[in-house]
Amino acid sequence: MTPQKRQFPLLLTFLLFFLSISLSCAQQHTWQEAFKVLGISWNRDGTLNRTIQIPMVDPTPDADTKPTPIALSQDIQLSYKSKAYIRLYIPVNPPKNKKLPLIIYFHGGDFVLFSASTIIFHKFCNEIASELPAVVASVEYRLAPENRLPAAYDDALNGIFWARDQALGKGGRDPWMEYADFSRVFLLGSSAGANIAYHVALRALDFDIRPLKIQGLMLNQGYFGGLQRTQSEIKLKDDPYVALYVNDVLWSLVLPQNLNRDHEFCNPISGGTYLGRVFRLPKVYIKGDHGDPLVDRSILLAQFLQQCNVRLYYRFNQGGFHGVELQNTTAAQQLYNDMRFFMNDVDMLGNLNSGDLSHQVIRLPSDDDKSFI
Ligand SMILES: *[C@@H]1O[C@H](CO)[C@@H](O)[C@H](O)[C@H]1NC(C)=O
Ligand SMILES: *[C@@H]1O[C@H](CO)[C@@H](O)[C@H](O)[C@H]1NC(C)=O
Repeated sequence: MTPQKRQFPLLLTFLLFFLSISLSCAQQHTWQEAFKVLGISWNRDGTLNRTIQIPMVDPTPDADTKPTPIALSQDIQLSYKSKAYIRLYIPVNPPKNKKLPLIIYFHGGDFVLFSASTIIFHKFCNEIASELPAVVASVEYRLAPENRLPAAYDDALNGIFWARDQALGKGGRDPWMEYADFSRVFLLGSSAGANIAYHVALRALDFDIRPLKIQGLMLNQGYFGGLQRTQSEIKLKDDPYVALYVNDVLWSLVLPQNLNRDHEFCNPISGGTYLGRVFRLPKVYIKGDHGDPLVDRSILLAQFLQQCNVRLYYRFNQGGFHGVELQNTTAAQQLYNDMRFFMNDVDMLGNLNSGDLSHQVIRLPSDDDKSFI
């Protein structure tokens, strides 16, 4: 064998090697691929055709239903002109002599999918109404891209105004709202709902919502983003639940068309008009999981809130994934326990000078939480 003949296959191997590397780098996901994953397609009129991947369910207003419900629910129409409604929950046996905290809840779904009546969120609200216990008002808000942000924030704010009007008895109070303590209101959201809870809390600071008192925010696996990638986004870019390229496509549907992912709607710590009022927020609970590509966004927000002297409670678990509490009862139970701890702790603060505690960061008790900010 001549040396030249031996060299040829070697050269070929190298060539193929570099070719395959450059091909895999150039391999780009397309928006069509993201649409397929999300089960959406364009209609001719610019609206989305959403394949119903997770069913929706009717409320359960009647305790005599079989199987016996753990909580009762009803839909309250907010306006004859729009489809906006509140799905209201109370425990099936509310305590007689004690009012319950009112949780205003915003469901997840990337701002594009799902409804307050989607079965996973309906079940979640039934459980928290029964477990905590609490009166839960789950807000049906408009979705993108038919209604880009801030439409969802507007609807969320209307949900808060509805609760205020209930407190004032405007137009008559729903009998179920007699169970609610309007001085103990909490905003809760998961994923996109956490983003909504955060923004609407900042917006609500500009309005007279008395006699409502928002005592705290609970932000579960917030759906935030930004132009610059975080470590967790890079590490988990092909995540089955919230792949990075799918998120990029989603944000292009959600944000107003002239805005990029560093707008405060997406990246709440990058700047914008809301930053200056963050120090006025009530206590905040932030929950994240290191198996979720979005976890670094929650950590960054937690660090920012800490700098702004917001009283912060947080948990960042090892493992997990986006939406873990909807599939894993242990994770769900931990979240409910955290929420109860957080809400009751806020209650005790009523007797203290909260200014003294404003610098504290309170980590929730946990066995498996080895992480830190
Ligand atoms: C919506 O999508 C589904 C599934 O892709 C399809 O079967 C249906 O025809 C579409 N509907 C419209 C109105 O385009
Ligand atoms: C549910 O979560 C718990 C706690 O994080 C974990 O130990 C358990 O393995 C999970 N179960 C399933 C079925 O994934």
